[in-house]
Amino acid sequence: METTREPILYKKFPNLKGKVPFIPLIPNAPTPVERLTNLEKHLNLKEEKIFIKRDDKVSDVYGGNKLRKFEFIFGKILKEKKKGVITLGGIGTNQGLACAITTQQLGLKCHLFLAPQPVTWHVQRSLLLYDYFGAKLHLSKSNERALLKSLVFRLIHPRYFLMPFGGTPLFGFGTSLGTVGFIDAMFELKEQIDQGIASIPDVIFCAGGSIGTAAGIGAGCKLLGLKTKIHVVKVSEDIVINPSNFLKVANKALNYLHERDPSIPHVEVTENDFKIIEGYRGSAYGIVTEKSQKAVDLVHELEGKEKGFKLDTTYTGKTMAALMDYITEEENKGKTVLFWNTYNSNNLDDYLRETEFNYKKLPRKFHKFYEKTFQCWQITDCAKERRKKCPAYLNQEYRFWKITDCPLSEEQKEKARKQLEQAIIAEKQ
Ligand SMILES: Cc1ncc(COP(=O)(O)O)c(C=O)c1O
Repeated sequence: METTREPILYKKFPNLKGKVPFIPLIPNAPTPVERLTNLEKHLNLKEEKIFIKRDDKVSDVYGGNKLRKFEFIFGKILKEKKKGVITLGGIGTNQGLACAITTQQLGLKCHLFLAPQPVTWHVQRSLLLYDYFGAKLHLSKSNERALLKSLVFRLIHPRYFLMPFGGTPLFGFGTSLGTVGFIDAMFELKEQIDQGIASIPDVIFCAGGSIGTAAGIGAGCKLLGLKTKIHVVKVSEDIVINPSNFLKVANKALNYLHERDPSIPHVEVTENDFKIIEGYRGSAYGIVTEKSQKAVDLVHELEGKEKGFKLDTTYTGKTMAALMDYITEEENKGKTVLFWNTYNSNNLDDYLRETEFNYKKLPRKFHKFYEKTFQCWQITDCAKERRKKCPAYLNQEYRFWKITDCPLSEEQKEKARKQLEQAIIAEKQ
């Protein structure tokens, strides 16, 4: 872990030093900004530009949007000498994984309060990884119950820090520090724009789960005086992803900074600064939609393979689908858009191999999430020795039939392929 990085906010507003907690967790800042020219060509764009902010590479262990928030939140946790962290999410929560990894690195304990979401391969591997990185798992029937249980646990264990869903204030309660992480990230992007690495985007596309990432970027744009509009692609619940909550979360963070350094302009995010984009989530959080799966596959083929990233179907695939629809509309001719990549792109398969996929080690309540099978070696009962050498074993890329020296007969392959396709049927939307 790097030890010298300081937030750009400290550099711009030195009075914040000592008043806003921070610990460096992002060795790879500034994260690259790249142009997606193959995608532009594929979409037949002429003057329009698509950039990507590669937060998938913030760290070499686990990338994505969480560590931006954690640099500030864990700054507070360490300052307050907490013993551990409690957090919440669905059974495939990326925040839970980031939290398990970070707490282990920092020698803290981690308890995850989880609620069901549609079971995918991502969910199955995530649960094993939480356990691998030392988190204790608790299952509830719903998000509301998970919240209740976590509050009770926090009451009994006051030396634990309770991090809300997504590290974002919920109904106005909770720390603004995660949002501040993305205000700082927006300052980083502005420095890159000033260096000529990218042009000022007309629109930034960002997935909206707890809304903290998008609200932080929006607050950052406001503070920097940019006219860039944030398009928040709704992937979670209406109760969280709505205009009033965006304003609340963004302005709470701006006030937090202004209170600590009154020289920071007292600006306010308004309804004109962002748009909530509906129609991409599917019938529930975590559902794999056809559009999302297509966006994941297309962008991997055109860009990700070469640049080393792959989107996910819950957040970034849906966001990319929305971006592609937007930029190909006649009325958006000539626009520049930036896709904020919030999903980890580091390979976690080596860790997963170490778990040997032994889900029976997890608390009993979680075993039911392994009834569905998403991998060829589970369906065909591939020999253990062969499995270990096979690139399809425990790989995110479940399309095993692409592997040329697979010893399965054509009949076996066909059977497994059909079973897999049924398991990952995408919702049409
Ligand atoms: C990959 C990914 N992208 C985006 C988000 C959404 O971020 P936020 O909760 O700040 O809205 C999440 C949240 O879990 C995520 O895991």
